Amino acid sequence: MQTRILSGDSEINILLAALHLTAGELVALPTETVYGLGANGLDPEAVAKIFEVKGRPQDNPLILHIADPEQMELVCENIPKSAYQLAAAFWPGPLTMVLPAQDRVPLSTRAGLPTVAVRCPDCDITRQIIRHAGVPVAAPSANISGKPSTTTAQHVYDDHAGKIPLIIDGGPCRVGVESTIVDLTADRPRLLRPGGITPEQLETVLGDLVIDKAVTAQIDKDAVVKAPGMKYKHYAPQSEVVIVSGSREKAAAYIHAHYAKGERVLCFEEELTLYQDCDPLAYGKEADVATLSAGLFAALRELDDPSITKIYARCPVGGGVAYAVQNRLKKAAAFHIIDAEVEA
Ligand code: TXA
Ligand code: MG
Repeated sequence: MQTRILSGDSEINILLAALHLTAGELVALPTETVYGLGANGLDPEAVAKIFEVKGRPQDNPLILHIADPEQMELVCENIPKSAYQLAAAFWPGPLTMVLPAQDRVPLSTRAGLPTVAVRCPDCDITRQIIRHAGVPVAAPSANISGKPSTTTAQHVYDDHAGKIPLIIDGGPCRVGVESTIVDLTADRPRLLRPGGITPEQLETVLGDLVIDKAVTAQIDKDAVVKAPGMKYKHYAPQSEVVIVSGSREKAAAYIHAHYAKGERVLCFEEELTLYQDCDPLAYGKEADVATLSAGLFAALRELDDPSITKIYARCPVGGGVAYAVQNRLKKAAAFHIIDAEVEA
């Protein structure tokens, strides 16, 4: 199969993408977070293609993307007031809500769960495509399962050339990490995955938020978890990733003491000169955390090379979007963190 990359700036291409979706084909779509691998979310056969092409475990449900907030009423039921409040505050935007599913949402889309994840992305191109297709679009991050997510059309091409007919190019993704996921089906709202909408922002609207344990710790692959995707090894290049925390000076001292040829350092732009002899790659500025979230996956993909023996990574501290960057890097490192303040 030939894979075409077409610009999302053209009305014809938007219509073509919508036609592919209604015909049961896969289309890779831009969003403000990461590129998604989209299919008609109400068509089990189309949804099956997503799992096949991505190599995604069948027990990992998909997010349904809608063009406008009110469309959540077409796929969800018993919608709590908090969902309307969050939609008013953050949609379109990088927030996914888990809500009770209507029967019309195929079991394969939601991996057999009674709930469904919905999101209205802040991307005009993709919202127009969904509107023209007239169906909610199921779309996981477009990477091959287990690989770092795709934040450019080229990343999608690198993973799926020859396997999907169409990639719509909307440029590099602005946020760069996947959406925040909040589960509204239990007694208390629960954060299942941090992202561009921060815990602090959610708390402002909800007044209450439980942080799921899958956010902060490694989950056993046989464990029963709220967001099945969170237990799989994720976001990881092929080589071992180790986070080195602590002050700039202590981290540099630790890395210089342990660095060997063939290893790499993933650091902040401000630190590049410190690691000149250690093959450094910067993923953004520590002083501007949005550049770190926007650059993280492109950097992890660049480091996804079997000849690299180890990656020492520097991770931002603090809340807000830094919390999401920490989460993705910790998962890439399988929670292997060295505190350079105590280890020499
Ligand atoms: O930003 C994003 O959310 C991107 C773009 C394309 O929109 N999509 C994305 O999808 O990250 P994916 O499939 O890579 O991650 C979806 C996560 C998985 O961890 C999955 O287990 C969880 O959402 N999920 C989906 N449906 C769920 C449900 N009903 N209950 C709990 N977790 C769910
Ligand atoms: Mg994903």
